[in-house]
Amino acid sequence: MLANSLLFLASATLALASPCVRSSPVLPVNGGAKELATPPSNLTLKHIALGFGIQNYTCASAGATATATGALAMLYDIAHLYPGQSRIALDNADWLTLTADALDSQAVPLNLKTDGEPGADPVNPFTASTALTVNGLDLPFLGHHYFNAAGVPTFDLGSQIFFGTKLDSVAAPSSAYSGPDGTGAVAWLQLGDTGASVGISYVYRVLTAGGNAHTCTEAGNDSTSYTAQYWYYG
Ligand SMILES: *[C@@H]1O[C@H](CO)[C@@H](O)[C@H](O)[C@H]1NC(C)=O
Ligand SMILES: *[C@@H]1O[C@H](CO)[C@@H](O)[C@H](O)[C@H]1NC(C)=O
Ligand SMILES: *[C@@H]1O[C@H](CO)[C@@H](O)[C@H](O)[C@H]1NC(C)=O
Repeated sequence: MLANSLLFLASATLALASPCVRSSPVLPVNGGAKELATPPSNLTLKHIALGFGIQNYTCASAGATATATGALAMLYDIAHLYPGQSRIALDNADWLTLTADALDSQAVPLNLKTDGEPGADPVNPFTASTALTVNGLDLPFLGHHYFNAAGVPTFDLGSQIFFGTKLDSVAAPSSAYSGPDGTGAVAWLQLGDTGASVGISYVYRVLTAGGNAHTCTEAGNDSTSYTAQYWYYG
């Protein structure tokens, strides 16, 4: 009896002392005809974020095809929720639907315009740098995503900043959540460093939900809410 208890204590201590046995998170695969190229093996995964915001578009006229003009999103840390990474980690099914669940259940965490126009307040688009609660889980604030004045997709994570250039894209799987307006999920992307980034060399946008453009009904700007997982390697 005593021997058994000691054995149990010994293995419990071993388990607590070996946090490094967790397998490293694997970039989600699209399941379609083509996958995004995986990052170079000499890079490591730095962060996994839930991005939640808007994709911006402009329409030249009714019936025109909307042109993408940028995006704005709050970024929340979800790395600890990857299956097997922590006591509160999600199971695989809940991990894969986290972006859809957030978009479906929570208001866009931006200061949206209040004058009836689409999009966010141009001066102060971001809400407070606090956690987002989804499915009862607090997702800590991680940073901001926006397009800078030169139109470069930017991820500001405080001590790290990434200026991206699109290297590749694949359509979201047909099973992806098409968003509250049913417009469809934005493509999965691989972004490379423009050369000005600090601490991050590649960003992947995966497990997207919503965000594709509405049909153009008039000339002007438009926005569609979206969520995505962003994986950062450096
Ligand atoms: C990773 O390897 C590539 C060549 O394959 C090299 O250009 C790059 O500088 C390396 N990055 C780091 C962080 O070592
Ligand atoms: C759309 O996104 C761009 C790029 O981040 C941003 O500068 C602009 O303010 C946004 N426009 C609206 C209407 O939200
Ligand atoms: C559309 O948005 C751009 C900035 O994203 C702004 O400069 C322009 O004035 C907006 N157009 C209209 C019609 O609101």
